[in-house]
Amino acid sequence: MRRAIVAGNWKMHGSRAENAQLIEELLARFPAQPPAACVVCPPFVYLQEVGRLLRGSHLSLGGQDVCADAQGAFTGEVSAAMLKDVGCEYVIIGHSERRLLYRESDQLVARKFGAAHARGLVPILCVGEQLADRDAGRTHEVVARQLDVVLELCGAGGLEQGVVAYEPVWAIGTGRNATPDQAQEVHAFIRARIGARDARIAAATRILYGGSVKAGNAAELFAMPDVDGGLVGGASLKADEFLSILAAAGPG
Ligand code: PGA
Repeated sequence: MRRAIVAGNWKMHGSRAENAQLIEELLARFPAQPPAACVVCPPFVYLQEVGRLLRGSHLSLGGQDVCADAQGAFTGEVSAAMLKDVGCEYVIIGHSERRLLYRESDQLVARKFGAAHARGLVPILCVGEQLADRDAGRTHEVVARQLDVVLELCGAGGLEQGVVAYEPVWAIGTGRNATPDQAQEVHAFIRARIGARDARIAAATRILYGGSVKAGNAAELFAMPDVDGGLVGGASLKADEFLSILAAAGPG
């Protein structure tokens, strides 16, 4: 059985005061036996403090990005060892905003994935097509390319404990989520692609859906056989919404 994951990507939102309030609200009503692993990914500068607030809880900490290199003269970068050092267990890798706005190549994303894996962080590899790709029938081609670079660099073993997040770019922050069938179709494709290299690892890999997940659509998305939870942006900033999404990961 794959244990589902619900991860909140706070993106560049929050302040010390807002974070403290959000965490307080989450912990006040956090289930004693959460139906899924639950992760929050604040901006780098807040990781340590949010980690302190989470201590002793069932909420885990994750970074939103990581440097591909281990240490050295890389101004502005944060290494996998540093993320571990401040208590991160997870890290988002290759989010479409990083790929598109900061020109991260498939190759760089794969190196980041390898760096995170080597340090014992659970990398959450984001893949997903843009609207023009979907309209042109190129969804599988794009997702396969993004996935294959990682599989080639790190091997299927790199996905041992790893997580993939299918995030169609047209669904991120738009309020327009993929339908459960659309998500399932791509998730099954991703699992089969990994399975062509290693069936055991494919069966164990958690594949999250991301893109306008909210309380109102989470249950139907998570009910699909290859959807093992969600990567949640906007709705992770509201305690009520995020807790409802977490609850939706339970047996329906
Ligand atoms: P969204 O973002 O839930 O606000 O659409 C998801 C993401 O970018 O991970």
